[in-house]
Amino acid sequence: MNKFSRIGFILAAAGSAVGLGNIWRFPYITGEYGGGAFILIYLLAILFIGLTMFLAEAVIGQNGQSDVSTSFVALSTSKNKNWKFAGFMVATGLIILSFYSVVLGWILDYVITSFSTLPNEASIAGANFERLISEDVGSLIVYHTLIAGTVIFIVLKGIKDGIEKINLILMPLLGLILAGLLIYALTLDSFSQAVSFMFTPDFSKIDSHALLAALGQAFFTLSLGVGTILTYSASLPKKANFVKSSIVVAIVDTVIALVAGLIIFTFLFTAGAESAAGPGLVFISLPVIFSGWGMLGHIIAVSFFVALVFAGITSAVSMIEPALRFFIERYKISRQKATLICGGSFYFLGIIALLSMSKSFGAHLTFFGKNAFDIMDFMTSSIMMPLAAILICIFLAYFVEKDTLKEKFLAHTNETVFNIWYFLIKFIVPIAITILLLNKLGAI
Ligand code: PFF
Repeated sequence: MNKFSRIGFILAAAGSAVGLGNIWRFPYITGEYGGGAFILIYLLAILFIGLTMFLAEAVIGQNGQSDVSTSFVALSTSKNKNWKFAGFMVATGLIILSFYSVVLGWILDYVITSFSTLPNEASIAGANFERLISEDVGSLIVYHTLIAGTVIFIVLKGIKDGIEKINLILMPLLGLILAGLLIYALTLDSFSQAVSFMFTPDFSKIDSHALLAALGQAFFTLSLGVGTILTYSASLPKKANFVKSSIVVAIVDTVIALVAGLIIFTFLFTAGAESAAGPGLVFISLPVIFSGWGMLGHIIAVSFFVALVFAGITSAVSMIEPALRFFIERYKISRQKATLICGGSFYFLGIIALLSMSKSFGAHLTFFGKNAFDIMDFMTSSIMMPLAAILICIFLAYFVEKDTLKEKFLAHTNETVFNIWYFLIKFIVPIAITILLLNKLGAI
């Protein structure tokens, strides 16, 4: 049967959650928002909003044992067919995957070049990065093709032999690399500085932007609002404890983000570098630091970027799965055919995304002042993901019998936990996400 084992589900869901969001994005936004206080808010966002939403997707998926839209209908009061439309969210994963694959392609380039050369000045590192994304179109297409090909190859094999297996291999390897880097960071003097930067809250740095950034990050990092967790949970055996599994995944994801932060800030402080360098933190600041460490620097650089690729691949395969399952279940087509359709679409969109950042084609692929890459990013993380999340909350709170949900939770946990979860999903989470959505749209 094509289902996860319990440990397989935990690894695959953790593999989905742990990605570029943890190792690239979390450290740089933490740096931008000044460290400790931001992290505290982020942890609260994970606990109260992220985990709540995670459980929401898990309960819908595990009950439905099918694609997003069928699972919505199955859980709704009197099997209301109107909820089929919730299937729209499977498109989100495909769009994210198209530019995520492009970014993974940049990282592949860093893996390869870090073997031989590392820039010894920030200006050189900056120029290298700029050249890669805006001029080196040929290489970028090759990298994107390699990443897309790998993702397609894995998902073609299905849940058990493809997704579960790759996570079984890559997640422990990722853990090993991060453990090695953490041990090295521990030997450096600036480790304690990184700890105090990350865990001493300075609330003067916190404003509404920081709050919303923490919320958005909690969402992205747990792969929510895309139907990914829902679809993975649909391959979780019906009796498995989805509550415990969800908690474990949220913990693993959080620990890995914190470890990545500790490693990166230790490295940055060792070199006296800026912690608020933004998205270039990993692509520009780190290579310069590694270049000062000689041979060891090359080894660390390659390991670090390989870790990013591993983390990214296990997330990438999870982005396409909701759409695959949707096509397989609703249109009764084979996994091969579904993969061809979905793989082809995201590959093509990815080419558009990467060309839109290039000097030669950028102007043709820029609309309303935003290039196609940024538009895809904005459409998904700022609009489609929050919209889907609000929809999930409304669905569970008003279109599913409370007793049905209660029964599912009580099979694995106590009434207090259920009541807290229900209160959060009915009131707190939808309000918080609506504020996030309106803010992204510039309405507030
Ligand atoms: N959680 C992933 C990360 O932190 O990089 C990103 C992600 C994966 C988002 C899967 C959405 C998704 F469906």
